[in-house]
Amino acid sequence: MTDHAAPKLEVLPVTGLPEFRPGDDLTGAIADAARWLRSGDVVVVTSKVVSKIEGRLISVPRDPEARDAARRKLIEDESVRVVARIGRTVITENRNGLVQAAAGVDASNVDSGEVALLPADPDASAFALRAGLRERLGVEVAVIITDTMGRAWRIGQTDAAIGSSGLRVLHSYAGAVDEHGNELAVTEVAVADELAAAADLVKGKLGGTPVAVVRGLSIEDDGSSAHDLVRPVDYDLFRLGTNEALEQGRKEAVLVRRSVRAFTGEPVEPEVIRRAVGAALTAPAPHHTRPVRFIWVRDQARRKALLEAMRDYWRADLERDGFTPEQVEKRLARGNLLFTAPELVLPFLVPEGAHTYPDDRRNACERTMFTVAGGAAVQGLLVSLAAEGLGSLWVGSTIFSADVVRERLGLDGNWHPLGAVAIGHPLDGPGGPRPPRELAEGLVEL
Ligand SMILES: Cc1cc2nc3c(=O)[nH]c(=O)nc-3n(C[C@H](O)[C@H](O)[C@H](O)COP(=O)(O)O)c2cc1C
Repeated sequence: MTDHAAPKLEVLPVTGLPEFRPGDDLTGAIADAARWLRSGDVVVVTSKVVSKIEGRLISVPRDPEARDAARRKLIEDESVRVVARIGRTVITENRNGLVQAAAGVDASNVDSGEVALLPADPDASAFALRAGLRERLGVEVAVIITDTMGRAWRIGQTDAAIGSSGLRVLHSYAGAVDEHGNELAVTEVAVADELAAAADLVKGKLGGTPVAVVRGLSIEDDGSSAHDLVRPVDYDLFRLGTNEALEQGRKEAVLVRRSVRAFTGEPVEPEVIRRAVGAALTAPAPHHTRPVRFIWVRDQARRKALLEAMRDYWRADLERDGFTPEQVEKRLARGNLLFTAPELVLPFLVPEGAHTYPDDRRNACERTMFTVAGGAAVQGLLVSLAAEGLGSLWVGSTIFSADVVRERLGLDGNWHPLGAVAIGHPLDGPGGPRPPRELAEGLVEL
C-alpha cells in the first residue's frame, strides 16, 4: 500500500489567459499559455471558464430584484432536490448528484447581466480538455474541474473536484497499517478534492487566474472520475437539512403509530415513558380543565393482581354470555399481552371541572365532551411513544371492568378508566410511517 502523499509538490499558475466567452477555444488557450506542461501534471480549471466556453452563461435582468428572481428560477431548474433551506440559502442536489448551495448557479466573475450555470457534464468536459492537451502538446496530463463549496460542520468554503479525467480520485488505505501498527480501515483520501483545494491557493477567487497546474503527484489513472466522489444517497448522513428533517418528522409523527401486538424483552427507558406522558397531557380539554391521568403500573405484583382480577371479571361476563369453556379461555388469552408487555400504562378520565346542567341531555353531552378529550390524550401518548421508536397497544378492557380497576387501585368513583396501554420495543422494529388513509369515506367536504 503506497501513501498518496508526494515528497514535494509545486502549484503553478497558468498566467496570460484571456477572458473567455461562449465558443472560445479553452484547450488552445491553455496549451498556448502553458507550453511548459509535462506528462503527469494535473491541470486544475475553475468550472466558471468551462461554463463560459460551453455557453452555460444565462442572460438575466440587471435590476437586482428581477435578477434575483431569475437566479432563483434557474436554481430550481438546475436542481433535482432541495436538501436544505436556511434563510435565503438553498442547498440543492443537481442532476450530477452534486449537493451544494444554489445548485452551483453563480453570479461571481461574470457580467452583471449574466449568471453562470455549472458545466452540464463536468467529467466529460475534463475528458475533452485532457484529450485536447494530449493532441496539442503531446502530454498525458490529468484534468480537474473545480467549484467552490461549503462543508457540513465547517465554516468557510474550499474548492472541490466536480469533474475529472486521468487520475485516481480516491486513495483508499483499507488494509494499510501505520507505523504504530494501527490499521487504517476507513481512511479514503479524496485526492481530487485535495488537488482542487491546493490549486485554489494559487488561482484565487478574483478571476485573474482560472487555471493552475499541480506538479509532483503520482496521478495513477484508474479510470475513476469526480462523479465517484458523490456520496450515494443511502450512505448520506446529511440526506436532509436539519429543518427539513424536523419538518418531515412532524408530518410523519401521526403516521408512525400503529397497534403493536408483539414486543421484544428489551426494557423501556423510564424517561421515554415520562416524556411521552408529558406530551400526552398537553392534549386539548374542555373548559381549560386537565381531566386525564395516567397510572403507570410499575410494581409487577400489583400489575399481576390487577390483571387477574380483571380477567376473572371478564370470565364471569363471558360465562354469562353462554360461551363454552374453550371459547372463554380463547377470548381471555387475548388479554395476555397486558401481562407480558414490558410496561403498562392505564389512562383515566377524572372529569373535575365538568359542568352540571339541569337536564340529562346536556349532562350526557358534557360526558361525551370529556371522553373525547381523554381519547385525544391517549392518542397523544401513542403517537409520542411511536415517535420515540416504541410500540404500543391500546386495549379497552379496563373500561369494561371499571369497578374492579378502581377497587384494586384504590381510586374513587370519579376515575373513569379509558383502557390500558401496553408498551415495549416492537418485535418487528419501529417501522416507518404508513401512508395516510384514503379520504373517500373519512372526509366530507362541503
Ligand atoms: C378504545 C380502543 C380499544 C381497543 N381495544 C383493543 C383490544 O382490546 N385488543 C386489541 O388487540 N386492539 C384493541 N384496539 C386497537 C384496535 O384494534 C386498532 O387500533 C385497530 O385495529 C387499527 O389498527 P392500528 O391501531 O394499527 O391502526 C383498541 C383501540 C381503541 C381505540
